[in-house]
Amino acid sequence: MSNAYDAMDYPYAVRSSTHPALLGALSQLVGRPPAPFRDCRVLEIGAGDGVNLASMATTAPDSEFVGIDLSEHAIARGRVLIAEAGLANVRLDYVDIRAFEAPEQSFDYIIAHGVYAWVPEEVRDAILKLCGRYLSPRGVAMVSYNALPGCRLRQAMRDMLIYSSAGFSFPEQKLAAARHAAAFHAEHWAKNEAFSAALAAEARDLLERPDGLLFHDELGEFYEPQLFSQVAAAARAHGLDYLCDADLSLAAGALWEDEFWTQSLPLTGGDFLAYEQFRDFVETRFFRRSLFCRAGAPLDRRFLPERARGLFLDARLEPFADTTVQAGEFAFKTARGGEISTRDPAFAAALQRLGEAFPAALPFEALATDAVVTDALMRLFVMGMARLTTEPPPVGRDYGEKPFASPLARAQARLGAHAVATYRHTNVGISGEEARRFLQLLDGTRTVAEMVQEMAGSTGRPDEASASVVEGLKKFAAWGLTRG
Ligand SMILES: C[S@@+](CC[C@H](N)C(=O)[O-])C[C@H]1O[C@@H](n2cnc3c(N)ncnc32)[C@H](O)[C@@H]1O
Repeated sequence: MSNAYDAMDYPYAVRSSTHPALLGALSQLVGRPPAPFRDCRVLEIGAGDGVNLASMATTAPDSEFVGIDLSEHAIARGRVLIAEAGLANVRLDYVDIRAFEAPEQSFDYIIAHGVYAWVPEEVRDAILKLCGRYLSPRGVAMVSYNALPGCRLRQAMRDMLIYSSAGFSFPEQKLAAARHAAAFHAEHWAKNEAFSAALAAEARDLLERPDGLLFHDELGEFYEPQLFSQVAAAARAHGLDYLCDADLSLAAGALWEDEFWTQSLPLTGGDFLAYEQFRDFVETRFFRRSLFCRAGAPLDRRFLPERARGLFLDARLEPFADTTVQAGEFAFKTARGGEISTRDPAFAAALQRLGEAFPAALPFEALATDAVVTDALMRLFVMGMARLTTEPPPVGRDYGEKPFASPLARAQARLGAHAVATYRHTNVGISGEEARRFLQLLDGTRTVAEMVQEMAGSTGRPDEASASVVEGLKKFAAWGLTRG
C-alpha cells in the first residue's frame, strides 16, 4: 500500500515542542509527575522518516522510541538515517494507525504531530483510541491539530486551491496550478476589504512554503480543523483527560486568574477547558498542541512554584543598555527579538545567569532565589521566553578539548541534509559542503589544533583555518550541536 506521502516527500523535521522532557515538565507543572525521559518509552504516530524520534533518542540511550507511518519511502529513508547515526533505540514500523498493536499502557509519551487534522474521521478516532489504550499511568500524549476558528480562513483558501488544481493528476502539475492561482488571487483580492485582505496575506504566506508542505498541507485529501472542545470531548470518550496546551500561555489567564479570566467567568463558569475554548474564539486560534493523560485521578492545575522543583530552565538572553533603558533598569533581549526589563536586581541576576549559561540549562531552584523571582521565572516560561525541561540537554558554551557533535547531526550531514538536529531538539541550517565536512570532524577524536590542520590542508591557509575553526566551533556550541 502507498500513500500520498510516497508521491511527494514531506519536509519532516525535528518538532521542538514534542520533546518528552518538555512534555514531562508541563505535566509536572499541572500536577502530574511524569516518567523520566532518560528511562521511558515513546511512540510517535505519523512519524514519517523518524527524524524527530531519532533526535530524542540521541540523548536517551536507555529509552525506547517507536515510530509508525504509512509512507514506505519515508520509513526507508528514516531507517537509513537511524543506522547511519548508530541509534539502537529507535524503531520505525510501516503500519496503519488503525492497525497498530502493542502491550496496553506501554508508552509514557505518545506524540501525534501534524496528523490529526489531515486524516479522515476514522483515523482521527483511531489516534485517540490508541492514546487511550497505550498510554502508561504516568503517560502524556500530545496531539497537535489545525484549530478553529482560525483555520476557517485556510479552508476558504484551500477551496480555491483544490478547485484550481483539480484538472491535473501529477503532483508537480497540481502544485504549479495551485501556486499560479494563489499568486493571481493575492494580486486581485480587494485590499480594502478585511476578509479578502486576510486571504491575500494567507496566499502570500503560502507561496513561500516549500512544495512538499504546500502539496500535503493545502492540497491533501483531508483537512478537518478542529474546535478544541471537540478534541477534548473525543479524547474523553477514549479515557483521556485534557492536561494543558504545549503553549502554556494559552492558559495564562487561568493559571494566574487575571482580569480576562474574571471577565470571562459569566461565559466560562470558571471551567479551565471552557476558558481555553473561549480564548480560542477571542484569539481566532489556528493551531493547538493538546496534552492528555489517562482519565481518572482528579486534576489539580494550581500553578504552584514547588512543582517547578527539579526542573531545568534555559533561555537565550542578552543584556543590553541603550537610551531606551532607564536608570535602575536591567534590560535583556530575548531569542525572538523581544525585550525584558526589570528593576529587581535579584530577577536581573537570574536572567544574567541564564543568558551566560545558554545553551545549557540551569536548575530552577538555583535561579529561584525568592518568591518574586520564582513567580517572574514562571511567567518567563509561560510567555515562551524560556524553556522548562525535566532533564537538561547535554550542551554548554564550551566545546571541550576534543569536540564531539551529535552523531545524528553528523549522519544527517553525511547524507547531504541542509538542516540538522541539535542536542536541544531544534533544527539548524548547515549550508555548503565545507560546513558539512567540518561537522564530520567533530567525532571526539581530534583536538582543535588537529582540526585546524585538516581544514588548512584544503585551503593551504593555517591562520584563516584556525580562525574559522574556532568561529565554527563556537557557533556549533551555541546552537547546541556539541556536547558541553
Ligand atoms: C503531515 S505529515 C506529519 C509528519 C510528522 N509528524 C511531522 O510533524 O513532520 C502526516 C504523516 O502521517 C502519516 N499518516 C497519514 N495517515 C496515516 C495512517 N492511517 N497510518 C499511519 N500513518 C499515517 C503520513 O504518511 C505522514 O507521514
